Amino acid sequence: MNPPALLALPEPRRRFLTRLSCATALFAAPGAFAEALIRTPEQTEGPFYPDKLPLDTDNDLIIVNDSLTSAIGDITWLSGRILDAKGDPIRNATVEIWQCDNRGVYLHNGSDNKAKRDANFQGFGRFLTGSSGEYLFRTIKPVAYPGRTPHIHFAIKFKGRDKFTTQCYIQGEPQNDRDGVLRGIADAKARASVIVPFAPVKNSKAGELAAKFDIVMGFTPEA
Ligand SMILES: [Fe+2]
Repeated sequence: MNPPALLALPEPRRRFLTRLSCATALFAAPGAFAEALIRTPEQTEGPFYPDKLPLDTDNDLIIVNDSLTSAIGDITWLSGRILDAKGDPIRNATVEIWQCDNRGVYLHNGSDNKAKRDANFQGFGRFLTGSSGEYLFRTIKPVAYPGRTPHIHFAIKFKGRDKFTTQCYIQGEPQNDRDGVLRGIADAKARASVIVPFAPVKNSKAGELAAKFDIVMGFTPEA
């Protein structure tokens, strides 16, 4: 079972959402593993949430609007589910991600080296979950910048709730052990839950990667 692999076939970007619905049926029954759930630890939003949102805020971060030039970096299909405290999917959650480009530059005026920013990298994307709680982005594998191990920032917004922010990391990345934000998660299981494999997509000629990061919220929406 590997939905991101199914999603990673070369397709025009307008078909992303269609492909996602195909993958939905492959996910496990809601609530099946509720006992094993680890609530995703909240982590700092950090200083680089875009100070001016891009005009294009869709779930494909490697193409800005209808540009013919892709972002520089290792293309990664980043997917997962937004789950409630019982392990059931949360619908109508807005998932936002932001990260630096392949040169370590954020979509933010305070970012170092902003003159070198990759103009073809969107830097930010949004996805509204449906009944399966799934989200999907096409982005790049995050890179390190001074003081931080590679990571992708997440914000989850849900009506009536405070914004929830966290970060996702690459399994096997040697700098993880020295990262202050990641080490700030005191509980070892909670810390491990935000570190995921960025694995090669089988038969991808372009060398694409897939990463799956489920986010378990600390509440259950009212029915
Ligand atoms: Fe960051």
